[in-house]
Amino acid sequence: MNSGAKQLATWYEKHKRDLPWRHTRDPYHIWISEVILQQTRVAQGLPYYHRFTTLFPTVEALANAPQDAVLKCWQGLGYYSRARNMHHTAKLVLSQHAGVFPKQYSELIKLKGIGPYTAAAVASFANREKVAVVDGNVIRVLARIFLVESPVDLGQTKKEIQQLADEFLEEPSDLYNQAIMELGALICTPKSPKCQECPVQVHCLAFAQQKQNQLPHKQGKTKQRNRYLNYLVIGTEERFYIKQRGEGDIWAGLYDFPVLETQQEVNHPAELGDIWPWLQQPEIRFDGVSEPYQHQLSHQKLHAKFWTYTLDGPITQADWIEVNAGVARQYPVPKLISNFLERSKLAEK
Ligand code: ADE
Repeated sequence: MNSGAKQLATWYEKHKRDLPWRHTRDPYHIWISEVILQQTRVAQGLPYYHRFTTLFPTVEALANAPQDAVLKCWQGLGYYSRARNMHHTAKLVLSQHAGVFPKQYSELIKLKGIGPYTAAAVASFANREKVAVVDGNVIRVLARIFLVESPVDLGQTKKEIQQLADEFLEEPSDLYNQAIMELGALICTPKSPKCQECPVQVHCLAFAQQKQNQLPHKQGKTKQRNRYLNYLVIGTEERFYIKQRGEGDIWAGLYDFPVLETQQEVNHPAELGDIWPWLQQPEIRFDGVSEPYQHQLSHQKLHAKFWTYTLDGPITQADWIEVNAGVARQYPVPKLISNFLERSKLAEK
């Protein structure tokens, strides 16, 4: 047994959080929890996990659900391709695995949207297969214990850390994988790690050199892109139009308002009329614009404004759906749109 493993296991048994996915060996439920937890922290993930497993208790229920229901359940978590991939995978499990969710790493890794991390987590927690999970928490813990000073976002370093994780892993693998992730979440945190409470402090090379606050190193961050979204809230008194976003988009399948994207912030409605002359017709009257809304995605900063127009004639856009605020809230929409619906007067009508 590697040095520190026993202390880690003892610490985990004493301090672990009581989380619902730690009480099941069902690979389908474990898969759901792991995909959610790649997206958000445990506290925010818990209600999503409960809702998801209540609405779709089996892989068959998920496979047979309409896409809108799956996206609605995911609303607010972001990275909606994860939800679309889960839906796709559930259908495939139904048609090609007779509805039995796989629990072997070699089978899991073949499924759409399941990468090495998720495959290892499901195989370990559902099947006790000896495969090491390596997520952001584990990378940080191992980079500190083993004093990995090369940037962890380099392919070569990632391989090195996976090797360290494989060597560090003991059996039963579910216990040790959960324990190292829990150490990363509770003790070996990104900022101000609680080294005085750490069960493996004596084995930690970074602690010995007091470098724990500098590790892990990362290469330059990917540059973030600014995007300017001008949403058009067009309608009559209390009804307006939404449309579904097409394929090949971060929000594919979700609904939002018709949108004009620009290279820079737009400050006057005439600029939008120049981009889309349809807005200049006499039946359309500009009523006002919201304050700017900002929304941070992993590599994009979104700057949105909501431009309100009254329409006095029939609509000529075939793919627009007429709704009121209550109906709009039943559709899966990006966070930016739900924030607007909550805050704007539309929500009161
Ligand atoms: N983060 C990712 N997977 C987790 C798990 N199974 N328990 C707690 N936090 C996690």
